[in-house]
Amino acid sequence: MSEGVRAEVQRSDWDQWWRTAVIYQVYPRSFSDSNNDGLGDVKGIIKRLDYLKKLGVEAIWMSPHYPSPQADAGYDVADYFNVNPEYGTLEEFDELIAEAHARGIKLIIDVVPNHSSDQMDLFQEALAAGPNSPERDMYMFRYSENGTPNNWGSMFGGPAWSEVEPLTGKEEDRGWWYLHLFAPEQPDFNWENPAVHEFFKSYFRFWLDRGIDGFRVDVAHGLVKAEGLPDDDIGPDRWAGGQQADQVESPFWDQPGVHEIYREWRKVLDEYGRDRMLVAEAWLTPEREARYVREDEMSQLFNFTYLKANWNADRVRDAINLPIEANGVVGAPVTWVMSNHDVVRATTRYGYEPEVATDRGIGFDDPQPDRELGLRRAKAMAVFTAGLPGSMYVWQGEELGLPEVTDLPDESRQDPTWLRTGNKIRGRDGCRVPIPWEAKAPNFGFGTGAPWLPQPEYWAEFAADVQEDDPSSTLNLYRKLLNTRAELGTASGSVEWLDAGDERVLLIKNGDVRLVLNMSNKPVEIAEVSEVVVSSCALEVQGGSVEVPANCGAWLK
Ligand code: NOJ
Repeated sequence: MSEGVRAEVQRSDWDQWWRTAVIYQVYPRSFSDSNNDGLGDVKGIIKRLDYLKKLGVEAIWMSPHYPSPQADAGYDVADYFNVNPEYGTLEEFDELIAEAHARGIKLIIDVVPNHSSDQMDLFQEALAAGPNSPERDMYMFRYSENGTPNNWGSMFGGPAWSEVEPLTGKEEDRGWWYLHLFAPEQPDFNWENPAVHEFFKSYFRFWLDRGIDGFRVDVAHGLVKAEGLPDDDIGPDRWAGGQQADQVESPFWDQPGVHEIYREWRKVLDEYGRDRMLVAEAWLTPEREARYVREDEMSQLFNFTYLKANWNADRVRDAINLPIEANGVVGAPVTWVMSNHDVVRATTRYGYEPEVATDRGIGFDDPQPDRELGLRRAKAMAVFTAGLPGSMYVWQGEELGLPEVTDLPDESRQDPTWLRTGNKIRGRDGCRVPIPWEAKAPNFGFGTGAPWLPQPEYWAEFAADVQEDDPSSTLNLYRKLLNTRAELGTASGSVEWLDAGDERVLLIKNGDVRLVLNMSNKPVEIAEVSEVVVSSCALEVQGGSVEVPANCGAWLK
């Protein structure tokens, strides 16, 4: 954030760690399996903390770790106050917090407030209690004799409503429905009910008391629905394909009432300190997103515009400028996100032409990416991205240059999108395949039990151990990058655009470093260079200038 903006906006959190941190996303199921049951676990994460420290990670964001029937890989929470027994115990979780903190690494967990699992006691009690009971008022039950109460569609395909009577077998439930913006196993909470607010306040205190540093807020723009639940003008099928689909005006997204909720949560977090953070998952436009990061609401929000820009210079430029401008007004930092567990991995997306849509996932019978080109571009993009001011998210395996598994056997797929669209939309399993740690060990060192999603044979070349001692590996590039980022303090700098003579070459001055990303198809000459600080390809200063090839990114002095 530039000093100019800083001087104009009064906020009490200008010096907080989350403004500049490198935050590494761990997907517990797929990270590291210590008890060899094919699923990652808490002890597995503890085992890898030194690896993360060496990488230069300042915080971990962990996808849901709670008991869950796993209808949506843990985003269907059955108990908000415990750890999934498949992943470990609460005691082990406390150990994780302590071990992370001992290494100076913060821990952010995922809060899932839009919906719970249908197996959660609150939903089961609601079903048992019958129509119009206080228990039912915790969720979104509606009566409608002729079909679904409105035309809303689930993000995973099919209607967003399911009938109650088949679940309870009770006559009195005939004509009653419950809302689920996601799978039927994920009933939506009723945020009009103060008891729901109280429930989540107690949730926050429980984890803050254990030492948690922050929360990633799932579907942050979806909690409040428009009064009367009016039809939308899209209908059920528009939404199938996941939340990365472009969002539009909708009676269930971005309703003004959501902001009251975040103000309430911020007050709870403030009891523990301004260093406790909230990061929003809200797929909106930069202007609308900025409202979530006002001083009395959340700390950060994922910059998905950046993720969605793919390998397109104009879109990347906008994804830098628009959020900086919008967030600047409220004094919030911008985050830089290339990937996460809901989208096709960056190395694979960059291996296609930028206009190729990958939202539906990729299968063996789809056009395949240029893997080598994708990796070159992903490294270039990572170098450029890490030099931008703000906080940076790294999706597990990104530092290994892992590609999407585009030939995952369809019978192994577990994403509800695949299952609920009648196998039409493949969904997100291809980016969630367990991490390869050791090239020669069974299951590449993930654990000796068969991993919950199969790893492809060619992953040996990406294993962390073969990259360890190779100075030109993606892993060592990330290490150098993140550690240099910390040394030079670029994350608290500012963006000043320079002209590189070609619109497809991005050139930014941040303090005394120039960041260049050559997205064109020919080399570009950058003058007045004395040093290449870090680069994704081999570069040489000759006669005070540097020739940066296509698909290369660098920091220059
Ligand atoms: C967003 C999460 O990132 C995604 O994985 C999940 O399926 C939905 N929210 C529903 O919780």
